[in-house]
Amino acid sequence: MTAVPPPPRMSLAPALLDIQACIRSQLDRVPAEMWRIVRADAPIIESVNAHLTGMKGKMFRPTVLLLASRVDGAPDERGVRMAAVTELIHLASVVHDDSVDHSPLRRGMPTINALFSHQVAVIAGDYLYSRALAELVAVGDLELLRVLTGASNAMTLGELRQLASYDALQFSEQDYWMLVQAKTASLLGAAAEAGALCGAPRFRRQLARFGHLLGMAFQVADDLLDYTESESVTGKPSGNDLKEHKVTLPLIAALPRLSQAQRARVEAVFAASVPAEDQIADVVAIVHECGGIDVARRKGEEFAAEAESALVDVPASEARQALIDALAYVMDRRS
Ligand code: IPE
Ligand code: IPE
Ligand code: MG
Ligand code: MG
Repeated sequence: MTAVPPPPRMSLAPALLDIQACIRSQLDRVPAEMWRIVRADAPIIESVNAHLTGMKGKMFRPTVLLLASRVDGAPDERGVRMAAVTELIHLASVVHDDSVDHSPLRRGMPTINALFSHQVAVIAGDYLYSRALAELVAVGDLELLRVLTGASNAMTLGELRQLASYDALQFSEQDYWMLVQAKTASLLGAAAEAGALCGAPRFRRQLARFGHLLGMAFQVADDLLDYTESESVTGKPSGNDLKEHKVTLPLIAALPRLSQAQRARVEAVFAASVPAEDQIADVVAIVHECGGIDVARRKGEEFAAEAESALVDVPASEARQALIDALAYVMDRRS
């Protein structure tokens, strides 16, 4: 008997394409700008770049940057270049993250560590980072440099914090928030703040806060996807966080509600150096049963609501509305 596919999920949340409508022409110029910045003569870098060019991401950070630059009238001409720099910093962090997380799949394609090697992933990530920073220096605005290098540094510390949490089941909700701030909210906050510096400087503080809170919601949603969606939908392996012994909000919220027997099954996953697929599926089911998914979703929604209120002083415009729509998109996204 052939399995009947589930019905398509109906959603009232805005689509990414609609959110990007008012910045479409600028956003379409970002990829060419990125590949101009990282062009190299070295053959191995060229092959890595060719592979990365074919891996299409959501371009969410450039979207936020370009929208932020538009909330107060005409943006300046640096927006596209800054959007490219920001996406390169993100790409560098993703190339490194996949190597650290031993992840084989990203954006539905093999990761650099899977296709080449961990060594190449380290070097390629460094290359992307350093090209992005060199471009930032060429732009010559010390505030932009301060904002984006600050975020890059925070992201590194975030990834380090994750690695250093060796007793995973002791990882507290407070540890989790510190980690999310550093590894994800820092760059989304910086993207919105850099956007402000390219066209809306009088709303710099509000946009930075908005981007930070959006980033918190974004990572909570990402951590939910690891529990709720399949690899064919997200383009990344599902259950990979558990496989890598990464404790995220759904599990943190479920832990105090586990029975003794459930706790023992969770501990077994964390004791196994390579947990079996059915062990992972079992813990995913336990987290669902104990309400971890619902708690995490509510927390994400709270951040989204707080982010919206960060924009109260910003006058109504298409770009401001698109930023607000981005919050609903983030909480509803499936990839
Ligand atoms: C992935 O970011 C890394 C996280 C912060 C969770 P995205 O979900 O924006 O990845 P791409 O760029 O669309 O692939
Ligand atoms: C995101 O953390 C960290 C980055 C800043 C790249 P994750 O490890 O959860 O990201 P994914 O799930 O691999 O995209
Ligand atoms: Mg990862
Ligand atoms: Mg993840």
